[in-house]
Amino acid sequence: MRRFLFLAIWVGLTLCNGWMLASAQPGNGLAKTPPMGWNSWNHFGCDINENIIKEMADAMVNSGMKDAGYTYINIDDCWMDTVRDAQGRLQADPKRFPHGIKWLADYVHSKGLKLGIYSSAGTKTCAGYPASLDHEEIDAKTFASWGVDYLKYDNCYNQGRPLIERYRAMQQALAHCGRSIVFSICEWGLENPWEWAPQLGNLWRTTGDIRDSWESVMSILDQQVGLDKYAGPGHWNDPDMLEVGNGGMTTTEYRAHFSLWCILAAPLIAGNDLRNMSPETKEILTNGDMIAVDQDPLGKEGYKLQDNGDEEIWVKEMSDGSRVVLFLNRGTQTAFMTTNAEQIGLPQAPHYRLRNLWSHKESQTAWLIRGFVPPHGVLVFRVWPLSNG
Ligand code: GLA
Repeated sequence: MRRFLFLAIWVGLTLCNGWMLASAQPGNGLAKTPPMGWNSWNHFGCDINENIIKEMADAMVNSGMKDAGYTYINIDDCWMDTVRDAQGRLQADPKRFPHGIKWLADYVHSKGLKLGIYSSAGTKTCAGYPASLDHEEIDAKTFASWGVDYLKYDNCYNQGRPLIERYRAMQQALAHCGRSIVFSICEWGLENPWEWAPQLGNLWRTTGDIRDSWESVMSILDQQVGLDKYAGPGHWNDPDMLEVGNGGMTTTEYRAHFSLWCILAAPLIAGNDLRNMSPETKEILTNGDMIAVDQDPLGKEGYKLQDNGDEEIWVKEMSDGSRVVLFLNRGTQTAFMTTNAEQIGLPQAPHYRLRNLWSHKESQTAWLIRGFVPPHGVLVFRVWPLSNG
């Protein structure tokens, strides 16, 4: 009898524990590494239609972006009709998307890619279209029936209703919609989302909207300090989508923007027109050495090691024991910057192997890691300890 009682208590505790863990995680098993893809907003705003989205899927494949790891083709705001259908379902704008979203999802899937869509935890989207507050279940089911793989969920027209409740309602609806859908929370970093969003979503915006300027990238960067401990496989800080290739920054600045997002283990969601990329833009977005930093399976976000005003050093720990070190020069003069193997967290070793992640050149060092960093630019090395020569 006593044994039976022990067994019953043990089974009870185990089940309860399992349930508590399950309810504390989005538990959808998605986004083990930061999501990679493209989104319509940064370049096109509301000026979208099914041809643009279709051509972007084609360009994703033809440009080599798909081979580099980009998967999601995400439609942002302004895809909906101004009214729901007779059954209360969201429907696509018949002029912009005459074939509907399911047709588009089928096309995107036929290219080996995935489709993302957008709504808001409010009565309207930011651009004023119908949104999902109090329609979570029907909308999640509709998205699932279309074959949607990713939902960006904004915060406009929220009626001042409690934030976590609104995002939890959609998380629950997605969990029961019958399809695996990445949940991208977009509440602009207002109420410390890093503290509650890891339990609900796969990624959460940490700031307001990015703009295509160096000042915007630096301001967003400053708001990431201290957030690294909240990120990990399945749940990521989102410093917003990329502006690389949109024309407002120099190639050096775009390289820095992209490198910083990789150090931050940020979602890499391109925001440019993939149909006509310059060779420089393509080289940045498809740099496999940098993408490997972002996509490292350990899922550790990088952190700021040193800040001397215009000169910053950022470090990211990698799953193979190496470290990535990024020298950032925010100033307007070339800087000579230095650190060493110990400072970036590597064990003592006779030598270290260095790989410059932009020139792809390799070298060795006994201890120091250093180099010239251009104004508004970065120098990035991956560093491995070597046991001999
Ligand atoms: C908000 C979001 C943006 C974009 C727009 C669309 O501003 O933060 O990323 O989705 O809405 O209206």
